[in-house]
Amino acid sequence: QWTVASIVEDQVAAIRASVGDGRAICGLSGGVDSAVAAALVQRAIGDRLTCVFVDHGLLRAGERTQVERDFVAATGVNLVTVDARERFLDALAGVTDPEQKRKIIGREFIRVFEQAARDLKTEEGVDFLVQGTLYPDVVESGGGSGTANIKSHHNVGGLPDDLQFRLVEPLRWLFKDEVRKVGIELGLPETIVHRQPFPGPGLAIRIIGEVNAHNLEILRAADSIAREELTAAGLDRDIWQCPVVLLADVRSVGVQGDGRTYGHPVVLRPVSSEDAMTADWTRVPYDVLERVSTRITNEVPEVNRVVLDVTSKPPGTIEWE
Ligand code: XMP
Repeated sequence: QWTVASIVEDQVAAIRASVGDGRAICGLSGGVDSAVAAALVQRAIGDRLTCVFVDHGLLRAGERTQVERDFVAATGVNLVTVDARERFLDALAGVTDPEQKRKIIGREFIRVFEQAARDLKTEEGVDFLVQGTLYPDVVESGGGSGTANIKSHHNVGGLPDDLQFRLVEPLRWLFKDEVRKVGIELGLPETIVHRQPFPGPGLAIRIIGEVNAHNLEILRAADSIAREELTAAGLDRDIWQCPVVLLADVRSVGVQGDGRTYGHPVVLRPVSSEDAMTADWTRVPYDVLERVSTRITNEVPEVNRVVLDVTSKPPGTIEWE
């Protein structure tokens, strides 16, 4: 009989059979797929799995803690964090073009992960690479057997030839909703299992303008308030995702206290969707929007205007970049 517990049991047995007494590495993004894949492999081979988390500095408030504290507490997994924040900021300095940002982030990400993989391979003899590939990904890519591509959230290319890994893909027969159930079964926190989609390039493609420490700080603060209020209003399951976008290149005049301000707008982009291919703007209740707007303009000094995006997809995309 088909139960979530039996999926876990079967997968754990399959992982043990294929990895034997080998060692594995898994890149964590903070998202649900890599977390559940890692938790399954951890259940199967314990300490012989090492997870690598690259902090590129483009995450939202609290996301690094979610991985380092909550995920580790729930699974007991071995975790290596690579703090690459400066490296990414340096590489992104002065860049405003969206595709250029994506290219740079993808390139730096693969370099950093590759180095971590190389270190683990030589120091500890790691031979297996865990990936959170889902069934829809398998179908989309033609269903062939896995080659050692890192299909990370950046869809970057393969690892270099001297870094061959054998792939472990414990989720390749599952759909997203099943992955979430497996995550719950494995005791992962709700915040990870039910996390809304978040793009690999992170906040970098939600800053219209230059990605720098200052702009990131502003956006992180505004985003964190919006998320807090939407969650408090019980809207998390109605909203597919809600990008908060900082228009760093735009300034407008405002008035705050007894002074004139010349600050930046942020855009709220709450959308409802089934699969992100099409989307509609979510009719968030006015009182919730009001709380978000009041708090952001009160608590984030650089922001003096909050606007709502009421465009469906198409013609708009979900993200602004
Ligand atoms: P758009 O903006 O194209 O987004 O309507 C559709 C979905 O994809 C996410 N997205 C990305 N995810 N790397 C990712 O991993 C990216 O470069 C990227 N761009 C958009 C977006 O958040 C939405 O869920």
